[in-house]
Amino acid sequence: MEHDFDKTPSYFNTEEAFEKYLGMTSYYLGLQKCAEKLIRLASPKSVAELGSATGATCIRLAKRFSDVRFVGIDMRADVVAIATSLKENLSNLSFVVGDMTQFVKQPIEEDFLLMLYSYHHIIDPLANKVDFLADAYHNMKKGAYLCIAETFIPDSASGLSDKDAILRLWSTRKDEGFASTFWNALNALDTDSIIKTQAIAEYCGENEYLAGKLVAERNDEFLIQPAWLIEKGKLAGFNVILNQAINSIEDRIILFRK
Ligand SMILES: C[S@@+](CC[C@H](N)C(=O)[O-])C[C@H]1O[C@@H](n2cnc3c(N)ncnc32)[C@H](O)[C@@H]1O
Repeated sequence: MEHDFDKTPSYFNTEEAFEKYLGMTSYYLGLQKCAEKLIRLASPKSVAELGSATGATCIRLAKRFSDVRFVGIDMRADVVAIATSLKENLSNLSFVVGDMTQFVKQPIEEDFLLMLYSYHHIIDPLANKVDFLADAYHNMKKGAYLCIAETFIPDSASGLSDKDAILRLWSTRKDEGFASTFWNALNALDTDSIIKTQAIAEYCGENEYLAGKLVAERNDEFLIQPAWLIEKGKLAGFNVILNQAINSIEDRIILFRK
């Protein structure tokens, strides 16, 4: 089986790759679970997930909240096709091909915008991310939420180009990717299964570390620091409802409200 694992989004190229690797890590599953808790608290009528990839998060949420309408938006037609085929007969969920930076330039009906590992894909320069926040604030309804859930460069780093701090963090993320994938993938206590699981976990850990190198080079992975996002969100007009780490390897949720 051939896959292009050169960059993080490629985990989302096929359902099979996603299920085997990133979809089993503690950090991905942790963010999903926390986003679910926040949706339960906010009790929106409708949710738009921006950068919905193969739809794992939207599908999970649409099953949990059958009276909430969900739409998943992604710019790649191939992953939208996968998501659409996986949603089966869930009538409260649809997927569309679209650019999230354009989506926020129109009046936004949904009262909860969820971005799980997608805000950092708004490409440099950082002004593009600032414009996104301003557009979202302008076009969201009063009381609507914007939830940004992803990995951040730590505030303790000296800046976005502090490669040492970034690579140090990603070497820990590599270990966590390995460990959590190993234990989540292990489903039979026979030797073959353990060896196979070991290979999957190594692949996941190594690819997480490769993603960290891209983060350090700002190559396809344009991560930011929490303090920066809080400052720019406030400048756009948002109230900060939550700014909370979900683990010790810098996965975090920032929840804004208009
Ligand atoms: C890491 S994945 C998101 C995973 C997904 N939210 C989940 O929970 O499974 C990032 C996704 O954002 C999408 N993306 C990046 N830039 C985008 C844009 N400007 N508009 C729409 N989608 C975008 C990519 O195609 C990719 O599928």
